[in-house]
Amino acid sequence: MIIKASSKDYEVIVNNNFDVIEKLQIDKDTYVVIDKKLYNIYVERLFNKIPKDQLYIFESIEENKTIESALQICEIMTNIPAKRNAKLISFGGGIVQDVTGFVANVLYRGIHWTFYPTTLLAACDSCIGGKTSLNYKKFKNLLGTFYPPDQIQICTPFFKSLSEKDFESGLGEVVKFNVMYGEKGIKKVEENINLLLARDEKTLEEFVYNSLAFKKAFIEQDEFDRGIRIHLNYAHTFGHAFETMSNYVIPHGTAVAMGMIVANRISLMRGWLKESIVNRIENVIWKIIHVDIQSIPMNMDVIMAAIRKDKKQTSTDLTAVLMKPDMSLLVVHDVKTSEIKTAITYLFDNLRRK
Ligand SMILES: NC(=O)c1ccc[n+]([C@@H]2O[C@H](COP(=O)([O-])OP(=O)(O)OC[C@H]3O[C@@H](n4cnc5c(N)ncnc54)[C@H](O)[C@@H]3O)[C@@H](O)[C@H]2O)c1
Ligand SMILES: [Zn+2]
Repeated sequence: MIIKASSKDYEVIVNNNFDVIEKLQIDKDTYVVIDKKLYNIYVERLFNKIPKDQLYIFESIEENKTIESALQICEIMTNIPAKRNAKLISFGGGIVQDVTGFVANVLYRGIHWTFYPTTLLAACDSCIGGKTSLNYKKFKNLLGTFYPPDQIQICTPFFKSLSEKDFESGLGEVVKFNVMYGEKGIKKVEENINLLLARDEKTLEEFVYNSLAFKKAFIEQDEFDRGIRIHLNYAHTFGHAFETMSNYVIPHGTAVAMGMIVANRISLMRGWLKESIVNRIENVIWKIIHVDIQSIPMNMDVIMAAIRKDKKQTSTDLTAVLMKPDMSLLVVHDVKTSEIKTAITYLFDNLRRK
């Protein structure tokens, strides 16, 4: 699949094996960044040929998604003789992507970069669209640029070693894309949810590809997120608040799945979505989210404050992307605090019962 962008067109290749990694030649102009957990799991099988002085092992925690980490990698990479022709190859999830994308963008004003998304979330969603983000002080994703990789190589066998929590987080985004697609997408995900949960490779390959194809249409029309791309924010206004208030114990995709429940319940209250559709979507979501709500202090006022702080909120009225009766998406600027609170109370009550 080719993604068109103003800086360059770039390709996403979905592989059902590791051949491309086994054949990798690391020349002297290449530097490799690998997620620490991933490295430990696959070192013998895939990574033991990489020279140690061309390898950076990155611990993927939000606290490391910083300008300091990016600068450290930049500094090491200044030892590469090729300078502007230096090549960066990174393996990992969204955290490695965000940091290495930033490095690839700012070092010498842009170097070659190949990204191997190794989480389902990065593969089905974040790897395309070109966003790079760093956390600054207590602000999530405050710093960032647009810089897509030259090439994206997805190797689906990587998903086998993901923890249940990270795998389910990726499924949250997969389900979100299918729900956004409408009735057909919902039916497809209903039919395949058990195969997805069983990590069936063929099914995952198909859903990853279709998720990316769906996102491609939005990012190609609105590369810099000034218009139609806001629709991809469906479920995220609420999701981001769950992520931050749980201090990232609830991972991104799971928080988005929770956000979908909130958004759809508001649509239901407004008479925009039929109860039968809302229930069908929720039945899928309950299968993919396992949040121990008792262990996370969920304070409604803190959540409301977090929603108000979301960078997409530009006025005192709350803005969210909601689904209309024909299942198309609409950016709504008049969402009431009371609507959100009712929907969140419904979500928490159900999570408590699980
Ligand atoms: N740039 C974007 O467009 C964009 C979009 C969405 C999210 N994000 C960012 O992405 C991050 C979340 O991404 P993520 O969910 O991929 O998280 P992540 O990068 O933290 O990875 C999740 C966990 O999976 C581990 N891991 C990675 N690959 C593995 C594998 N194959 N087997 C076993 N473990 C593996 C990591 O070590 C980590 O513990 C957040 O920081 C979020 O802000 C960025
Ligand atoms: Zn997301």
